[in-house]
Amino acid sequence: MCGIMGYLGEKPAAKVIIEGLKKHEYRGYDSAGLTVLDNGIFKKARAVGRVTNLEELVSRGDFAGTVGIGHTRWATHGGVTVENAHPHESSDGRVILVHNGIIENSRVVKEELQRLGIEFFTDTDTESAAQYLGYIYDGDPKSAIEKLVARIRGAFALVIMFRDRPDEIWVARKGSPLVLAHGVGETACASDPVALLSYSRAMFFMEDDEFACLTRDGITFYTFEGREIHHRPTFLDWDSSVADRGAYPHFMLKEIHEQPEVVIKTIGQRIKDSKIDLSNEIPWTAEQIKKFKKVHFVACGTSYYATLASSLLWESIGKFEIRPEVASEYRYRDIPIDKETLAIFVSQSGETADTLHAARKAKAAGATCLLITNVKGSTIDRELGLSLITQAGPEIAVAATKTFTAQLMILNLLGLYLAKLKGTLSAEQEKLFADELSQIPAKISVVLSTEKQIEKIANTYADKKGFLFIGRGFAYPSTLEGALKLKEISYMHAESYPAGEMKHGPIALLDDNLPVVAMVPKDNMWEKTVSNIEESLARRSPVIAVATEGDVSISNYTSNIIYLPATLPELYTLIAVIPLQLFAYYVARFKGCDIDKPRNLAKSVTVE
Ligand code: AGP
Repeated sequence: MCGIMGYLGEKPAAKVIIEGLKKHEYRGYDSAGLTVLDNGIFKKARAVGRVTNLEELVSRGDFAGTVGIGHTRWATHGGVTVENAHPHESSDGRVILVHNGIIENSRVVKEELQRLGIEFFTDTDTESAAQYLGYIYDGDPKSAIEKLVARIRGAFALVIMFRDRPDEIWVARKGSPLVLAHGVGETACASDPVALLSYSRAMFFMEDDEFACLTRDGITFYTFEGREIHHRPTFLDWDSSVADRGAYPHFMLKEIHEQPEVVIKTIGQRIKDSKIDLSNEIPWTAEQIKKFKKVHFVACGTSYYATLASSLLWESIGKFEIRPEVASEYRYRDIPIDKETLAIFVSQSGETADTLHAARKAKAAGATCLLITNVKGSTIDRELGLSLITQAGPEIAVAATKTFTAQLMILNLLGLYLAKLKGTLSAEQEKLFADELSQIPAKISVVLSTEKQIEKIANTYADKKGFLFIGRGFAYPSTLEGALKLKEISYMHAESYPAGEMKHGPIALLDDNLPVVAMVPKDNMWEKTVSNIEESLARRSPVIAVATEGDVSISNYTSNIIYLPATLPELYTLIAVIPLQLFAYYVARFKGCDIDKPRNLAKSVTVE
């Protein structure tokens, strides 16, 4: 998705903007551009490809100026060309802007302006906003923006400079994220708060249907109708060093290794003296919880797989009727939702468009709604007003890793806490789970220590045509996430199936070019999964077994074994996902892929 950075202060704006755009690279983009306003001149640089191309262009020119805006573009309207890269300027050169989102009525606005004789230069929807603003601007930015936001439809975060207003940046938001921060003598805006951490931890997350004026002294907010309003900042306790790769070759590897610490932080005060307690965060009484007749889990991608993994615990321990749903389906299907529905949304970014719309739908239907997110102050967090925050810190790699384990940990804690209030979790069970959950960080560290061996197995099979992941019961959800990770970053085909489904189709794929990754914990399903391993071997598929420590008999079937410490079946995925993340990472590395910024993917999917 597009990324935006704007700056107004004392520093050279071009440098600040390039640094800020680099922090947005993970979102996925295909071109980048910036403009600084210097002595009444808009100095513009745009380049196809990486931000480093833009940086190189800027280093060769004169880009002095302490106010500017920049953008990383993820093409929607118009091809990937320098002309289509932002910023876009009005024909009269008085207004320039960058945009994230889609202006749905851009064609109508463009035709209207063309009839008035205004010439267009790009294929983008964004240019219609720039040209319209230039057309109506009469020296009063506030009233021009009021007219603009009334004229355009769709989703937008707009960051605007007026040539005759060198000490101001104007921003407007409807549907696309935008965050503002004010430091000493400087003010900045961005799509992602990570890009603003060096200015302030006090962030203003723009609300929909609002615009604002940024100056070096502060920020003034307005409703789309022009009424001035006041906002309190949200304080983010993120450390700016988290957005630094350190000695790791990729953010993904760094984030995989951060998981023990992330899980410790996410548990935080939620487990104490072998008791699970979320009473400070969850307002519902035991009576209310008993009235929840159905529980909907709604999310996309990896977050959806976290809900699938936890749903098994919710049903077996909490005895809840669980319905995990992909948000893009949930928002359009005719699903019965009512006052007896508990709807839990999971989104690391808190900005995913489908999850946001699904949440609005459930809220409007009277469901009790809760969000699990990594970003306090994000759009869904603000709209639902009740969130459990994971403590993963910013996740930079497009492929989610540490946020998955944090989400899963918190979903499990919540499921167990509600089960306790509901009366389906005994005191002994609570102690058993609490103690085992507290052991998870150490067990993840044990798995991380087998990294070299995982790398070796990954390198052995990285040139195969694809992979089949299988598992049963509690071991099945991890295979979905393992296959997704591999697809995302190595571009290899990977399928995931409940092992019992093999004979119903996927077995036809098996040959010596399709290795099978079998999750085979030492549980009551062990023999059945081993039968599936034998079926795979009989068809010459190499087998990689993810087994439980001490299970020597698995070596009768394969020498590719990754051992995991034993845990409770309900908590299996928290540990089992780790080798699969590493496996995907090393396959992608072997193939020379762009691991942190895989092609075609965006970190935060803020359009449908
Ligand atoms: C994860 O590796 C993916 N990049 C993707 O599936 C992601 O989990 C999905 O887009 C949901 O994002 P969210 O958690 O921010 O809502």
